[in-house]
Amino acid sequence: MSRLAPAAALLRRRLLSWYARSARLLPWRRDADPFRVWVAETMLQQTTIAAVLPRYEDFLRRFPDICSLARAREPEVLRAWAGLGYYARARNLLAAARRIAARPGRDCPRDLDSWLALPGVGRYTAAAVSSIAFGQPHAVLDGNVTRVMCRLFAIRSNARQPATQRRLTAMAQELLDPRHPGDWNQAVMELGEVVCTPQTPRCEVCPIGGLCAAKKGGLQKRLPILGPKTEPKDMSLTCLWIERGSRVLLWERGRDELILKGHWGLPEMGRFPARVGPRLTTIRHAITRYRIALSLRRASLIGPRPPQARWVEHARLKDFLVSSLWLKLIRD
Ligand code: ADE
Repeated sequence: MSRLAPAAALLRRRLLSWYARSARLLPWRRDADPFRVWVAETMLQQTTIAAVLPRYEDFLRRFPDICSLARAREPEVLRAWAGLGYYARARNLLAAARRIAARPGRDCPRDLDSWLALPGVGRYTAAAVSSIAFGQPHAVLDGNVTRVMCRLFAIRSNARQPATQRRLTAMAQELLDPRHPGDWNQAVMELGEVVCTPQTPRCEVCPIGGLCAAKKGGLQKRLPILGPKTEPKDMSLTCLWIERGSRVLLWERGRDELILKGHWGLPEMGRFPARVGPRLTTIRHAITRYRIALSLRRASLIGPRPPQARWVEHARLKDFLVSSLWLKLIRD
């Protein structure tokens, strides 16, 4: 039996009953409509609840469901996103809504892997939406959950290190209440937001304080340990600008790429036979853990169109090239 199992049942009971009593009535908690939950979780990724609240209802009034969003033009969506920053989230939301609207039934996916296959949907969003909207048993791990876990189990390793993150992910998954995964995930995040706060945790009102190793050892203000963020890695890429009449060759990136997994992009040099010509531009751009130097060269295709590639009209490029990396590149 795992180390966590004996305490898990008590922990779940206490935290879930606290959540049932005191959860804030946030607008995305009114019902478990997957579209509403997905929009909320996307907005909440790099933005505080206080900043999301005034924008959320406006966005949903403008785009009440998948189809209305899928039909929208990108500038409209970016306008509705104004003030939230990190606009790649809005572009990805639109690109993903279009993919969903093109599926038979036009329903949001239910399972984790189908969410993960959509542009801009990472492990956090996929776990949050599939658990909250569909009751699927996937634990979320965000900054709040990390803090709660590190304190609860007095974890003293650097919470930013991938090895610690993996350990925390496994613990969060083991603790997850499989009967109420959505409420459980939201309860842990809520605890981190209103009780187990970074600087001055309110341990005196914590529903699981009696089970908390950090509280027992008086360590709560020292945990989690957040060492320096991992240094970004340098990466050089060369992409090809292959034109035919009014169309440009785009490439669907695989799920195993280091960056922009599953995005449409300009094809990288070396992936298929091409006659490579002069350099058009070079840009620098940072994405996640990479500092990228990206060169663009004019080229022409040798042989037939590769299966991952498609020709796209110039006027439609921005429907496909949603990452700010591509926008920066083609703007030049
Ligand atoms: N932070 C991000 N998503 C949240 C949610 N659904 N509930 C509470 N806090 C959150």
